[in-house]
Amino acid sequence: MIFEANSLSPATSPCLQSSIRFKTSRPLPPEDDSLDTTSAARNRIPLTALLLFTFIFVLIVFVFVFFQVVCPFSNVPQKTLSTSKSNVSTANRKKTPTIRLPTNNIPIHYDVTIKVFLPYKEGLSYGDLNNTIKGNAKIRLRCQKENSVIVFHVKNLIVHHDSVRIFDAVRRNAIEVGKLIPRPEAEWIEIHTKQKFRSGGEYLVLFDYSAKLGGSVQGGLYRSSYVENGKRKWMATTQMQTHDARRLLPCMDEPAMKAEFLLTVIHPVGTNAISNSEKNKTTLISR
Ligand SMILES: *[C@@H]1O[C@H](CO)[C@@H](O)[C@H](O)[C@H]1NC(C)=O
Ligand SMILES: *[C@@H]1O[C@H](CO)[C@@H](O)[C@H](O)[C@H]1NC(C)=O
Ligand SMILES: *[C@@H]1O[C@H](CO)[C@@H](O)[C@H](O)[C@H]1NC(C)=O
Repeated sequence: MIFEANSLSPATSPCLQSSIRFKTSRPLPPEDDSLDTTSAARNRIPLTALLLFTFIFVLIVFVFVFFQVVCPFSNVPQKTLSTSKSNVSTANRKKTPTIRLPTNNIPIHYDVTIKVFLPYKEGLSYGDLNNTIKGNAKIRLRCQKENSVIVFHVKNLIVHHDSVRIFDAVRRNAIEVGKLIPRPEAEWIEIHTKQKFRSGGEYLVLFDYSAKLGGSVQGGLYRSSYVENGKRKWMATTQMQTHDARRLLPCMDEPAMKAEFLLTVIHPVGTNAISNSEKNKTTLISR
């Protein structure tokens, strides 16, 4: 962002330079074709003033550009700006969506099941499902402020719209789901509901989704390999650094929105699923 601000200010410099040239040539007497030291000295004061003006102008341009570029991406400065004297930033904010999630609903618990289709040995094929995952999530949220939109981060995931169900976790009644609006520029999806969430209420959001296994340079769940006894073996590994969890499941991928996870991995007999958390149980299931 700062890089962009810097690259914009030089673009304004050619204009400023030409305006300086015009103004300094004007006080010179017409016979002064060659610029001697005296005329240079005479022009020094206005020149200095102009340079100072230029500097201030560049500073203003820079500050303006800096605010324009930086503010749409951060919540806190935006709030400060909207209460400040300038209303320009408010208009600007409408054009660019904020990148931080609203805090109306916060996650408490994720219950996630993923089935991995990794052709991990020769001759094994899942057809079109090769190197994809199917996921199912049950997410418990607490409503902090009455609203009717749940927002989850997603990146390279497909949420199956028809599968989305929402329930009041206490009263058990269903909340009717309206539109699902993907916002790829913010890396999230909005689930709009026809009834409002009560402040203090707890809700369950259920849905199915699918995703592709990424390559090793990407985060989330990706395909990688190792060599054992001279043989190459395939595995799916997670990389969960900042902004990566949204590649594995729709979630509220922000440091201030931590929650408990219960993860179930469905994998072929003869393969292992390993986690950095304790194993709860293993169940044998048929296909
Ligand atoms: C900015 O806009 C808001 C909403 O249109 C208005 O209430 C407020 O008075 C404006 N502030 C200034 C300083 O113009
Ligand atoms: C799925 O992967 C297997 C193993 O790599 C391969 O043999 C098969 O052709 C792939 N199938 C499709 C439809 O891509
Ligand atoms: C497994 O998870 C269930 C549900 O969260 C819990 O009740 C149970 O105690 C867990 N068992 C083990 C061995 O961790």
